[in-house]
Amino acid sequence: MLSKKGTKAATIDTLLTEKRKFKPSSSFARQANAKKSIYTTAKKDYVKFWENLASELVWKKKWKKGLTWKAPDAKWFVGGKLNVTESCLDRHIEEGRKNQAAFIWEGEPGDRRTLTYYELYKQVCKFANVLKSLGIRKGDRVAIYLPMIPELVISMLACARIGAIHSVVFGGFSPESLRDRILDLEAKLLITADGGYRRGQIIPLKHDADVALNECPSVTDVIIIKRGDFLLRFKEGRDHWYHRMMQEADAHCPPVSVDSEHPLFILYTSGTTGKPKGIMHTTGGYLTGVYATTKYVFDVKGDDVFWCTADIGWITGHSYIVYGPMAMGVTQVMYEGAPDWPDKDRFWQIVEDYGVSVFYTAPTAIRAFMKWGEQFPRKHDLSTLRLLGTVGEPINPEAWMWYYEHIGNKKCPIVDTWWQTETGHILITPLPGVTATKPGSATRPFPGIEAKILDEQGREIKEGGGYLAITKPWPGMLRGIWGDRKRFIETYWSKWDGIYFPGDGAKIDKDKYFWILGRVDDVINTAGHRISTMEVESALVEHNAVVEAAVVGIPHELKGQCLVAFVTLGGETTFDDIISRQLRDFVARKIGAIARPERIINAPELPKTRSGKIMRRLLRDIATGKLLGDTTTLADPDVLARIQRRYEED
Ligand code: WT7
Repeated sequence: MLSKKGTKAATIDTLLTEKRKFKPSSSFARQANAKKSIYTTAKKDYVKFWENLASELVWKKKWKKGLTWKAPDAKWFVGGKLNVTESCLDRHIEEGRKNQAAFIWEGEPGDRRTLTYYELYKQVCKFANVLKSLGIRKGDRVAIYLPMIPELVISMLACARIGAIHSVVFGGFSPESLRDRILDLEAKLLITADGGYRRGQIIPLKHDADVALNECPSVTDVIIIKRGDFLLRFKEGRDHWYHRMMQEADAHCPPVSVDSEHPLFILYTSGTTGKPKGIMHTTGGYLTGVYATTKYVFDVKGDDVFWCTADIGWITGHSYIVYGPMAMGVTQVMYEGAPDWPDKDRFWQIVEDYGVSVFYTAPTAIRAFMKWGEQFPRKHDLSTLRLLGTVGEPINPEAWMWYYEHIGNKKCPIVDTWWQTETGHILITPLPGVTATKPGSATRPFPGIEAKILDEQGREIKEGGGYLAITKPWPGMLRGIWGDRKRFIETYWSKWDGIYFPGDGAKIDKDKYFWILGRVDDVINTAGHRISTMEVESALVEHNAVVEAAVVGIPHELKGQCLVAFVTLGGETTFDDIISRQLRDFVARKIGAIARPERIINAPELPKTRSGKIMRRLLRDIATGKLLGDTTTLADPDVLARIQRRYEED
């Protein structure tokens, strides 16, 4: 943590400088949805700017006031009424996109389905009627625990059609995690599947759901989608087969118009400590935010094929698979499984097969592709790609360059998009066609967004490192933590007066570009210097032998803290004292002696959350010899045990 003591401004030292800059090509710029003038228009009157975008969507009743704002409470498009499914479905059918593919879906075993906007519309209406027949009404919470199959989208939109609040729980979560979320939500209904596929294995979703439901009295009904031929226990009276109920359902279901501020969904995000937070998003503002950013950041057009590789269980999938792209009426690819199944070129096979043109993924995936080698993308025709995006973590410049060269063939702009579950949509990002990019920088706030770097006291840092702050309200901002007003205020609104604190450190350069340094919990104070672990990791990854690195700080007698680096080596390199010394010197040369890691630890794999974030907190526990903290959100708990063994042997 940055120090809260004293009055001296707590800033973060910036150590790496990246000089490369990539201007958009004139051909991309010419066809782009966003032109340079968008920044000036938005600056003149940011509420008006968002109002103009909101009016591109379908409203039942127009709003009276664009924004009311009394920190921390924002209301957008006050008095307006709408149903999001009309913008995502009905509108496309009326406007000639009826038989356009909404989703081209591929299951992990290789099965394929295409759903047009019209087919999807009918399925959503039918399922909304099914939900009604089970007594689900406006405001009720519905938990959804599904693999990446089209029925996941259908379920979410069916809830929205009748004003019910959906809460998707990622299919990789354990029964305990599912139980905790259902209890917090007091959900009435659970939608799940008999199972799903991951790396050729079957994930027994219904079985896990049964375990969770043993302790969830609020759930009176369960709907099961049949994904395979998986064994399950069927509880008469409570459990229902999706396909049976759909057979009898009517394909007409009038949309329930809700208030612009009616909750659309709750999505849980794990904080660094404590129980997960149910982040609450509402209707009109959220839809406007995801629509606008899909239009201008992903630049989608009628003939694009958009592929966001995230799971819908995360906010990225909510905003940039379901609501944003569907409000834009674009054709999307949706894929159920792992990127390395059956082989490490599965993603590139999919890009080639469906002619994907806009591709959005995470730095952790890009680093895995790097590690596997360029021979996998090279096997495929990726020439349909015209725009690439990343999200989720700071992307180190080496990974950015690899993505640019080996996936984008040096012709696709890269949009490095910074945002959070809480922000609902992208807030800091390049606009392809307008912004010159620098590898590793999310560049500038989206039009209509105001972001600054502040110190502990709230003074602005014009150049250098500090805390990232969002200083004006935006339409997709979270409206609260479900059932916990106090935590909402403490977590996000108590650092400065009326300013949103995302919890990230960042630096700003002389061109006013933002460089996200990661969570402030990941800042190390060594010998009086505040160093972002991310910059040391970036330096390590620049070394040819290193594929991935995680750096943590541990107490040190003299320096306060010192750095310990866990590294994953690639290719032929084996770990020994020589490489260890080389790496420490390499960092010292790149960044400065203050950043030289005290120790380098060989970690053939790093512990990650299921969404791919490195869990530095657990590595810190290993490095300080502490008992391990909460490991329930780890994707693969065995990874930790293996690293710990190596640490102790060393
Ligand atoms: C945290 C939010 C937003 C969807 C996925 C993650 C980090 C996100 C970037 C980026 C550097 C990034 C931040 C943020 N993050 N995007 N482009 N560059 N860091 O959602 O799980 O709510 O995590 O992810 O630390 O606060 P999330």
